[in-house]
Parts: sequence; C-alpha cells; structure tokens
Amino acid sequence: MPLAAHTDSAVEIAPGVHWVGALDPHLRSFDIILKTANGTTYNAYVVRGETGVAVIDTVKESFSDDFFRRLESVADYAEITTIVLNHLEPDHSGALPELLRRAPQARVYLSSRAQMMLKALLKPAGGKPPEYIPVTTDDSVDLGGRTLRFLHTPYLHWPDTQCTYLVEDGILFSGDIFGCHFCDPRLFSDRVGDFRFSFEYYYAHIMRPFREHVLDAVALIEPLELTVIAPAHGPILRQQPRDYVHRYRELATPRLFNEARVEKTLLVFYISAYGNTRRMAEALAAGAEALGGVRVSLYDLEGGEAGVFTDLIEEADALAFGSPTINGDAVKPVWDVLSSLTTVNVKGKLGAAFGSYGWSGEAVRLIEDRLRGLKLRVPVEGLRIKLVPDTGELAACRDLGEQLARHLTGRLETRVIDMAELA
Ligand code: FEO
Repeated sequence: MPLAAHTDSAVEIAPGVHWVGALDPHLRSFDIILKTANGTTYNAYVVRGETGVAVIDTVKESFSDDFFRRLESVADYAEITTIVLNHLEPDHSGALPELLRRAPQARVYLSSRAQMMLKALLKPAGGKPPEYIPVTTDDSVDLGGRTLRFLHTPYLHWPDTQCTYLVEDGILFSGDIFGCHFCDPRLFSDRVGDFRFSFEYYYAHIMRPFREHVLDAVALIEPLELTVIAPAHGPILRQQPRDYVHRYRELATPRLFNEARVEKTLLVFYISAYGNTRRMAEALAAGAEALGGVRVSLYDLEGGEAGVFTDLIEEADALAFGSPTINGDAVKPVWDVLSSLTTVNVKGKLGAAFGSYGWSGEAVRLIEDRLRGLKLRVPVEGLRIKLVPDTGELAACRDLGEQLARHLTGRLETRVIDMAELA
C-alpha cells in the first residue's frame, strides 16, 4: 500500500460514513510543547442518513480547502442538517465559521460547556448565530435510519469535550481521546505504520492530567458495541478498537501500590551543595514521620532525573521541595521536577518549600510561587535558613514537617485564643 494512498478524496469508513479531514505531515510540534515526529491529522467525518447529513468536527483553519474539497465529494451543503462539535480547540473548529456560512440551515450539537466558548469563537465572524443544541449523555439526533448519540465526557482535555456514537454502525467519534499525532495517509490502524509510541505519548501529555475524567469516559464507552473508534487525530481504530479503550483504562488507573498502607504520603525532594539543605530535609521528614499516619519519602535530586518521579508525584498527597539559593534562584534539578508537573494532576495536593542560603535566599519563595501556580495548597510558610542550620533551626524544620503531616491527616491543633490577644 503506497503511503500516498487516499490523500485527495474523502475516505469511506462504512457505507455512508466518510473521513473528510486533513493531513498535516510536516508539523513537528503541536501547541508549541508537544513533539510530533510524524505530523498529525485533523479528522472530521460525514455521516449520511435517510433524512439528514451530519458533519462531525472540522479542521484547523489553514487546512480548510482540503476539508471542503473532501466534504463536497460526499455531500451538498444544502443536505447538511447537523453539525456536531465534539471539541472546540481551533485544530477542530478552524473551518467552522466557513462551514456555517455554507450550510446556515444546520443545527449545531455540542456540550453545554462548549456553547459559551463557541459564541466567543464565532464573534469575529459576525452574522446570524447558528441554532445551538446543548446535549449530554443519551441525547441523540435522528438522521433517518441512523442515530447519533452523545456521551458527556468533559475535560478530555478541555471542559467542552464530548464523544458521539453512531448507534447502528457502532462507530465512536471520540474527539481527542484515543487520538494521537501520527500522520499516515493510509489512515486506518491496520494499515498505517506502528503508531503505538505516539498513542502512549499523546495520552501522557494530553490526557494524563485528567485521568479521573478519562476513567469516567471509559466507563461510559466500555458498554458500547464498538466496530470503529474514529478519533480527532491520527489513525482510525478499526482493528480491535476495544483494545484501545482497555489501554486507556490501564493508563489512567493508579499504578503504584502503597505498601506502607498508611493513609497519606509526603515526598520530600531536596538538593544540597554542602549538606545544609539536606539536614533541613531530613529534619522535616523526621518531623512528619514522628506524627504517624504519613508515609514519608526522601529523595536527593542530585541523584535522580525528573521523569522517574512523575508516577510517585501523581500518587502523592504532599510534596516538599528543598533548594539552596544560587544566583537568586532555586537550582535547575528542582525546576526540572517542578516543570514536569504539568503532565500530572497536582491540584489540591499540599506543597512546601525550604532551603539553606548564603545571602539572599529567594529560592523558597520562588518554589512556593510555582507550587501555588500549579494549584497546590501551601498551608505552611516555607523555611529559609542562613547557611548551617543550628539546633533550634533544625527543630523548626521538624516542626514544618509535623505541621505538614497535621494538615495531611486532618489533625490540626486547635489554637486556643487568649482574649487578651484580641485586645
Ligand atoms: Fe485536537 Fe484539543 O485539540
């Protein structure tokens, strides 16, 4: 099968169901941060019923010509009764304003969260707004002998996302979920090159921070009869599509087993040039440990790379970071870990910072700012200690650890306020 096959026309997935998307083989990064060694595809679909034609998603604006050429090869604009928007990110909604101009009679089906976003997206286009129909799980559209049923699957990976299921054919139009950035004009999973690395990379970088939502979506999808999964990027999955659902369940399921069987976990990361920040870390860890009910782990970042800690961090309840201040900043190994946290959900975990310093000591505040920026809670003010911690300062480190443990376990001490303090 030549790699150039299928590039110029709509591609039939099932009788009356076509891919009308676009190929972007030369893209090398997506959303700036994601590497795309094989480019990507923007998948859009057309479903023909006896009484109506549905278009499901569109493409990035700069690929509109490809989309409209393929669409016109299988449907007239006047036939389009239904436009389904599974996701509004511009790589899928870019051609929408023009599609609405060409098929103004079409009703637009989307999630309720998508409605306000779509109004904002269409503002620059002006003109009469289309008829929006907000839908949720089990709502459906009858195309005449063919039914599109919706599944409410938010946060995969935007709040607006949904999936659409073609009941009679068992085809799931899944949006970004089950997709990957892998452009191969042979299109179908059983014909394209090996894209497994891309499927896993896409999950790790796009879906992983939303794994609870992934599990909710998988629970909705698992009972469906599936012949094909038609995602918004990459190969159309028609060879054992259920395997991909199963893989998503595996990927989103917590993978670490907490052998200590204690309720809460605290990870203490540190790096130390002369042992001062290390002593602070050890004292903090000992203070947390002493309270009981918390599994405390201590890691020297001088001996580890950021990536290996990702799974631990995803499962942990609290993270403490210790760094010396060098040239007014925390040191790079600490930033490496902190910058890797965008691929996991750390919102609501507890955070803390500490460190020894020579003369300025900015690292602690900078780390705290970063933790707050990532939406961790930082309930206890960080500790900065000038050069070598003395006995009293190490006691303060122990106290920081104990306070963190108290917050973690809900054993906060009730402070008795002396009325005289209020005077
Ligand atoms: Fe493929 Fe979230 O856009």
